[in-house]
Amino acid sequence: MAGKAAVVTGGASGLGEATARLMAAEGAQVLLADIQDERGAAVAAAIGGEAVYQHCDVTSEDEVAALVDGAVAAFGRLDVMVNNAGIIGAHGAIDEVDLAEYEFTMSVLLRSVLLGCKHAARVMKPQHSGAIVNTTSVAGVQGGLGPHVYAAAKSGVIGLTRNVAAELGAWSIRVNAIAPGKMVTPMNAAALVGDPDALEETYAAFADRTALRGRIGVADDIAQAALWLASDEAGFVSGHTLVVDGGLTTGSREAVAPGEHGRWAARRDLAREGGRSGLPT
Ligand SMILES: NC(=O)c1ccc[n+]([C@@H]2O[C@H](COP(=O)([O-])OP(=O)(O)OC[C@H]3O[C@@H](n4cnc5c(N)ncnc54)[C@H](O)[C@@H]3O)[C@@H](O)[C@H]2O)c1
Repeated sequence: MAGKAAVVTGGASGLGEATARLMAAEGAQVLLADIQDERGAAVAAAIGGEAVYQHCDVTSEDEVAALVDGAVAAFGRLDVMVNNAGIIGAHGAIDEVDLAEYEFTMSVLLRSVLLGCKHAARVMKPQHSGAIVNTTSVAGVQGGLGPHVYAAAKSGVIGLTRNVAAELGAWSIRVNAIAPGKMVTPMNAAALVGDPDALEETYAAFADRTALRGRIGVADDIAQAALWLASDEAGFVSGHTLVVDGGLTTGSREAVAPGEHGRWAARRDLAREGGRSGLPT
């Protein structure tokens, strides 16, 4: 990442914070953006060096445009745009979804990514280089893993990523997405424990609810994926959604002992006969 200029939205907390820290540690100049100004400024100060913080509400086109311009003003270019800021948003049964909450959730989770891609492309196209990394979710990959509007927005991010990648390849710009599984972050701490800083309790709550025994998803797992997608090592990867979920979407189930999941193994004899009734014996 040495010599690369990166913007990370949602950089004050969780996955964005870990991504900003790791990219900076790997030599990037990082501009963090968020609406939690105190927290964001503290993260930038802790990173030190050339890391800077800028307020940006990703639902505002003016502020996203100003963010990209801020990176160019600070670093002279923009190599990496991480569109990561997010919330859980509208929830409840489908017959109860509130439309105002729907609009707000979509603007934070999907319209924001469109704006991030739009303004990053404005700067990256003349450079004929750049990497955009959008944060989606396993809820955008598989049903039942998040609230309806969240799932719809995150599916939209995957489609948008593919389509924008198809256009921007002509400018040698790569566009990819990361679909995190269940990660220990302030977002989940707030949703699960009611306190965004209760990371230890969240970790404990996830401990026996993992599909990969002995392993719980943490922010650095996503930071490592973002680092790779943003780096030249992923130079031939574009339009891809990288699932980082400890195997959750493989059909694996959480909190299952070794051997317990063997649905097919346990029915071996019957399974072998399945579909053979019409065959000659
Ligand atoms: N934690 C998980 O398990 C998980 C799983 C899948 C996807 N994700 C996605 O990862 C991303 C980051 O989530 P996280 O878990 O790190 O949560 P987090 O709450 O720790 O961090 C999200 C950050 O986004 C910021 N933000 C929210 N609305 C904003 C806005 N309008 N403008 C600018 N910043 C805004 C928040 O202030 C916060 O700092 C989100 O897009 C989330 O949907 C998280």
